Amino acid sequence: MARKKIIAGNWKMNMTPSEAVELVNTLKPLVANEEADVVFCVPAIDIVPVAEACKGSNIQVGAENMYFEEKGAYTGEISPNMLVDAGVKYVILGHSERRGYFGETDADINKKMHKAFEHNLIPIMCCGESLEQREQGVTMDFIRQQVKIGFQGLTADQAKQAVIAYEPIWAIGTGKTATTEQAQEVCKGIRECIAEVYDAATAEAIRIQYGGSVNAATAADLFAQEDIDGGLVGGAALKPDFGKIVNYNK
Ligand code: PGA
Repeated sequence: MARKKIIAGNWKMNMTPSEAVELVNTLKPLVANEEADVVFCVPAIDIVPVAEACKGSNIQVGAENMYFEEKGAYTGEISPNMLVDAGVKYVILGHSERRGYFGETDADINKKMHKAFEHNLIPIMCCGESLEQREQGVTMDFIRQQVKIGFQGLTADQAKQAVIAYEPIWAIGTGKTATTEQAQEVCKGIRECIAEVYDAATAEAIRIQYGGSVNAATAADLFAQEDIDGGLVGGAALKPDFGKIVNYNK
C-alpha cells in the first residue's frame, strides 16, 4: 500500500495565541488536500486555541516537544497527557534546535519516543547532519546512529506508525534546500536502516519527511521522490505559501 504523504508545519517560537488563531483561519481554506495528512505543530501555549480553530477542518494539531515524565516537579515542562487532553495527535521530537540549544541527547529522545507511543501520540523524530559532518563524509553513519538510538526498544508496530524527519542542519532556515538527489539519498538510507533494525514491511510502512527550507517552488520535486513521504516545514509554514506546499501535487 502506498504511504500517505504527511506535510507538517513547524511554527517554532512564533505566533502569540491570537496571532495563531488568525493564521489558522487564513490557512484553513488553503490546506485542504485529501491525499496528505496535514499537521500544524505549534508552540505549547497556542495548542488549545489552535485545536479549537482547526475543528471541522482537515488540520491535525501537533506539539513541538514534550517531556518523558507523566507529571511532577519538572518546572516548565509539558507532559504527554497534557498534550493528548488538549487534542494533540503528533509531537516533534529531537529537532536539531532542541538538540543544539537545549542539549537533548539521543537517549532523551528515545525516552520521549516510548512515552509518545504509550499515549498514542505519533512522534515525528528529527535527524540530520551538520555541514561539517556532510563534508567529512559521515552523514549516513551519524544519522543511522540517531535513528537506531531513537528507536531503541520500540516494536515494529510502533515503528510503522512513526514519522522520521530528515533535516540537514545546514538547510534549516538558511534558504539552502538540499537537492532532491541529496534528500532522496538520505531518506532511502534511513529506510534501509529501519529495514535492518526491523524488517522490510516496517521500512515500507514508515513515513520519512524531508525538512530544511522547503518552499512552494521545491516541494513538488522533493515529495515526488520515492523515499520522501512529505515535509516538515518551518518558515514557509507561517505563510499562505504553505497551502501551495500542501497542494504540491495539484
Ligand atoms: P525551515 O525549518 O523550513 O525554516 O528551514 C524546517 C525545520 O526546522 O523544521
